[in-house]
Amino acid sequence: MGLYEKIVNGEEKLSLVGLGYVGMPIAVAFARKINVIGFDLNAAKIDLYKSGIDPTNEVGNDVIKNTKVDFTADPAKLKEAKFHIVAVPTPVNDDHTPDLSPVEGASRILGQNLTKGSIVVFESTVYPGVTEDICVPILEKESGLKCGEDFFIGYSPERINPGDKVHRLETITKIVSGMNEETLDTIAKVYELVVEAGVYRAESIKVAEAAKVIENSQRDINIAFMNELSIIFNRMGIDTQSVLKAAGTKWNFLKFFPGLVGGHCIGVDPYYLTYKAEQLGYHSQIILSGRRINDDMGKYVAESLVKTLIKADKPVKNAKVGILGFTFKENCPDTRNTKVIDIYNELMEYGITPVVVDPAADADEAKRLYGITFQSMDDMKDMDAVIIAVCHDQFSKLTDSDIDGFFKAGADKKVLLDLKGILDRKAYDAKKDYLYWRL
Ligand SMILES: NC(=O)c1ccc[n+]([C@@H]2O[C@H](COP(=O)([O-])OP(=O)(O)OC[C@H]3O[C@@H](n4cnc5c(N)ncnc54)[C@H](O)[C@@H]3O)[C@@H](O)[C@H]2O)c1
Repeated sequence: MGLYEKIVNGEEKLSLVGLGYVGMPIAVAFARKINVIGFDLNAAKIDLYKSGIDPTNEVGNDVIKNTKVDFTADPAKLKEAKFHIVAVPTPVNDDHTPDLSPVEGASRILGQNLTKGSIVVFESTVYPGVTEDICVPILEKESGLKCGEDFFIGYSPERINPGDKVHRLETITKIVSGMNEETLDTIAKVYELVVEAGVYRAESIKVAEAAKVIENSQRDINIAFMNELSIIFNRMGIDTQSVLKAAGTKWNFLKFFPGLVGGHCIGVDPYYLTYKAEQLGYHSQIILSGRRINDDMGKYVAESLVKTLIKADKPVKNAKVGILGFTFKENCPDTRNTKVIDIYNELMEYGITPVVVDPAADADEAKRLYGITFQSMDDMKDMDAVIIAVCHDQFSKLTDSDIDGFFKAGADKKVLLDLKGILDRKAYDAKKDYLYWRL
């Protein structure tokens, strides 16, 4: 009987190493079908899961309460599993080089607990070669086992989109790859247990690694193009969204929009690819220019706000500015790698201390990472300027009178920056007491 059959009939277990936005939903999905051990180094997170709390909001507390995942912070438990999935973070360092320490750390822990006949699948986003050239030597060293003889490896990138309840693990085609046909077959069949949309068998591990990293690089470059257009059209006094709407009537015009590019994927993954390219003597032209434009958008927004305040005859220093939304994307509590912090920091340089409100965000995380304490919606009053930075459901429901209530009563010029273009621009342009701006 093969490993797949043993997993299905309950003789062998699957483990998840790293239970964050990616790993936890995978663990929960597999636990509906097979025995799953969910391991994370972060014991506090494990305690939350054990007490039925989902800090990521990806599956919700009820699902966590009822899941059969065996949550643990004890690495020795990994010995009980034969099919391991690694979903630990792959951030970049301050100089934008890949920080592979979590992937290396997970490989070490896994290696120390690896048993003969196991399969290890990496899901973390990496540049081509990390799985075979960096992770395998660590697994071999720590386990004393030989890859290809005693254990086998594969790579299957994750495409989930935090906060997106439509495109989920079950509904997105999953790329799978393996070091040989037999391993690939087992990996494909295991994932088919939970991925209703089916799997795509990539030709090699490096192809699968490269596919993931370019998916996000492509988005990054396209958004950078939109951001550049927005900078140009703002100078021309043309509304970018209106231009995009008009151009979008052509069948092959791609639907992208300007905006802040934060998070752990789109703004990070391209650096993995350019780092590896650089090592091979190629200096990226397009990918890095896209990154530069996107990384500078927070500064651009802050400068635009200051210019609009001046246009409104408001003193810049100590102006009262409110920021609605702090997360890196809408309807997601995650504040890591948010670009709203760039707006905040840039405004501080102008002598403005913004009031930040975000009912959807993880307030403890924002305090820990940025030293920012969120204020309540009731504190969003007497403002000179308001930035709607993130399109959480709570904000897209705001009425004109809610927005009016954020500003100083009777103010003759209210500065409103609607970064995501959720308001009716024409209506606000027509209001004599508003200066409306959007990307
Ligand atoms: N979040 C996304 O939208 C998304 C989408 C697709 C792919 N990815 C990729 O998936 C990977 C994971 O991302 P995420 O958003 O789930 O990260 P995350 O930070 O939410 O979760 C990672 C978890 O791994 C744990 N961890 C770190 N080192 C560990 C170790 N040595 N052993 C065990 N656990 C360890 C952390 O405590 C954390 O709970 C990254 O490579 C990311 O690029 C993320």
